[in-house]
Amino acid sequence: MRKPVTLITGANGEIGHGLIEYLSTQDHTDVVALDLKPIDERLRPRVHASIPGDILDDFLMGRLVSEYEIHAIYHLAALLSTRAEYTPETAHNVNVEGTLKLIRLANEQARWHGHRVRFLFPSSIAVYGLPNVETKARVARVRETDWNFPTTMYGCNKLYCEHLGRYYTLHYRQLAAELSPSGVDFRAIRFPGLISAVTLPTGGTSDFAPEMIHAAARGEPYACFVGPEARIPFMAMPDGVKALTLLAEAPESKLTQRVYNVGAFSPTAAEIRDQVLKAFPKAHITFAPDRPRARIVDSWPGDVDDTPARRDWGWEPDFGMERAFHEYLVPTISRYYKEQGH
Ligand code: SER
Repeated sequence: MRKPVTLITGANGEIGHGLIEYLSTQDHTDVVALDLKPIDERLRPRVHASIPGDILDDFLMGRLVSEYEIHAIYHLAALLSTRAEYTPETAHNVNVEGTLKLIRLANEQARWHGHRVRFLFPSSIAVYGLPNVETKARVARVRETDWNFPTTMYGCNKLYCEHLGRYYTLHYRQLAAELSPSGVDFRAIRFPGLISAVTLPTGGTSDFAPEMIHAAARGEPYACFVGPEARIPFMAMPDGVKALTLLAEAPESKLTQRVYNVGAFSPTAAEIRDQVLKAFPKAHITFAPDRPRARIVDSWPGDVDDTPARRDWGWEPDFGMERAFHEYLVPTISRYYKEQGH
């Protein structure tokens, strides 16, 4: 008998850390964690199995299927937006081909065990592309169907994978002589920049906020790579995990779409600096915009309209900016770096 499990790819990343902690408190789920790197020691006791490996490795994926019966997939593995610009074709392979492989795996799994596989996919505000800062200021909050003109490879990859997921869920093999119901139940969240107190992102373009906060907590100076007026939405990691798991648990009949915005707070870089200075008055923060990266941030919306998520599955963030800083980020980061000997 194969063991029924939830598969998490990219398990060692920022969302993976928070998600595994949450799922380990739910006694109905055994997690199989897949990542390029061996899983963080802190997470190891919380997962059923940890498998180091590449989602593009067909042999590894075959082995997974022979050992486990997969009922849900959180497909978190991806190359983020800054890193993807340096190797766009590799990013395409990981972000798109990798996602296609996992969607197919979900479909195949469903055929074996007879239940639809829930497929949770973190998408991003990077799928939006505003042409200039005047338009960005005028538009203010974007709806899911607005301004889908990404300027980054990562944004293009995420937008296309949203469509792939919708296709596999609703229209897969629509011309087949005998139409069988799809085995995939795909659900995506367009996340804003995520800020975690216990991990730092690697290779993203919203990284200036978490980098600024973590540098201050470590007592190091920070030169911010966007200007003080740059504005994009952000979210504290516990809310990111909450959004993902709320959507995963929502009854399918409640969903009116497959892709949802979620919002929490939308500060400028200067407002983030002000919050950081309140908590760490000695922090040394300067602005040294890196034009190409700042342009990517300028192409992302200043805020998102998340009405459908609120209406369909009861989305509501627990953390606004003040609360995120004072009740989550500052105390948790300070404790974390103290333990690390800073
Ligand atoms: N945080 C991501 C990045 O900056 C966007 O989803 O690439």
